Amino acid sequence: MTSLSGLDVYDRVSERRAAAGGARRRGRHGAGRADTHGARPAAMENQWPASWVGEKLPHMGSITWGPEWAAAYDQTYAAMSEPPVLDPMVGVLAELARGGPVLEFAVGTGRVALPLSARGIAVHGLELSPHMAERLLAKPGADAVPVTIGDMTTTRVAGAPFKLVYLVANTIMNVTTQDDQLAVFANAATHLEPGGCFVLEVIVPQLRRVPPGEVARVFTFDPDHVGIETFDDLAGQIAWSHHWIETGGRLVRHSAPYRYVWPSELDLMAKITGFRLRDRRAGWDQAPFTSDSHSQVATFEKLP
Ligand SMILES: C[S@@+](CC[C@H](N)C(=O)[O-])C[C@H]1O[C@@H](n2cnc3c(N)ncnc32)[C@H](O)[C@@H]1O
Repeated sequence: MTSLSGLDVYDRVSERRAAAGGARRRGRHGAGRADTHGARPAAMENQWPASWVGEKLPHMGSITWGPEWAAAYDQTYAAMSEPPVLDPMVGVLAELARGGPVLEFAVGTGRVALPLSARGIAVHGLELSPHMAERLLAKPGADAVPVTIGDMTTTRVAGAPFKLVYLVANTIMNVTTQDDQLAVFANAATHLEPGGCFVLEVIVPQLRRVPPGEVARVFTFDPDHVGIETFDDLAGQIAWSHHWIETGGRLVRHSAPYRYVWPSELDLMAKITGFRLRDRRAGWDQAPFTSDSHSQVATFEKLP
């Protein structure tokens, strides 16, 4: 553990990568493959050489988001930080918080934690990337949101039991193995009081939108942001998300793998770790969830 700007830094992921040893390489059109074993060498961040794109990331929980991506994050999520998007979300979370305290897994730059905290609820954050957390710490209101640097698959945050743990912005998918996603559920359960809720916001995998015979689709095509995702490993449920973002006159390239997860699989992970599904909606506006929903807000309640 090291200390950074008043944060507790648990560098477990780097340790795990270092312990796991080197990877066998197998390149392919900018996307991960299923048949490599072992992990990359330590200290991987999100800005990696193009030659690394094309590898599977087995046995590794998450990529640490580096400084360039942290600097671009708030701009990239500007639309998602506007009151019409944030207000309903913060409203739902505030109600589930029942006065708090609450814990945000993968708190990032505080997009959600800070407005929730501004409603008088005690919010704690857990975050893997010190670069993202530094951005949070620099914002007004950050004094009220203690942040622990660590991995949401394993790190325990002081202040439990919490009334609510939440994980939004598709971030369960940043954890790239099924075992580690299950560990996120188990870790949420550890932090909650009985009856407390674990809320996830995550997309429904959009494989139906991939043109027949193709492995890629463009999901964003704006003047300052082009995003392409490739579906590479159907068994491991691994896709890669590639971004080209113009920020401050610079072009930032960011590619990261994610593990997509079906609603039924979330429910099974919840059952295994002592939750029951309380509610599933298509969004924070409480629209009903249907077979055509592209996203979901799932609320799991910890059983006694
Ligand atoms: C899409 S951002 C979401 C940030 C914030 N929750 C929001 O809604 O704006 C994803 C965040 O998850 C963090 N993250 C990824 N894997 C993680 C892990 N295993 N444990 C903790 N944080 C993680 C990243 O560093 C990044 O800050």
